[in-house]
Amino acid sequence: MISVWVDVRVAFVAALLFIGALTAQASSESAKAFAIAKQNTCLGCHSSNKKIVGPSFQDIAAKYKNNPGANTLLKNKIQKGGAGSWGVVPMPANAKLSDAELSILVPWILQGAPSSD
Ligand code: HEC
Repeated sequence: MISVWVDVRVAFVAALLFIGALTAQASSESAKAFAIAKQNTCLGCHSSNKKIVGPSFQDIAAKYKNNPGANTLLKNKIQKGGAGSWGVVPMPANAKLSDAELSILVPWILQGAPSSD
């Protein structure tokens, strides 16, 4: 009986550590994405929840919520720029972003850019 309780406690502590590690990892991915967005002046035209020159990241996340091709589509769009999805104002090209940087940025945008304000 005692050993059952020890097992339960061990499992509980292990679960807490696991959740803690996941949370820390998620927030460091957001921090990385935010830093990339900032360095590349994305935040001059986009914010997480307000339209500036471009749509808010939350509006973008909502628009592509059920679009399985969103990841590839948005990587291309960010790199090449262009207009037409949201209006006539074009986004300039961001040709110097690497695929690795885009792979951090786009999933973060599709989550509505958590903790970017
Ligand atoms: C000069 C202003 C400006 C800058 C800088 C800018 N954007 Fe945009 N962005 C826009 C505009 C305007 C649109 C809407 C384009 C359209 O209607 O197709 C847009 C659209 C987007 C979209 C949605 C594309 C679509 O087709 O739905 C994403 C994602 C995005 N921007 C990400 C970024 C990222 C990441 C950066 C930085 C690397 C960035 N933007 C920099 C103005 C900007």
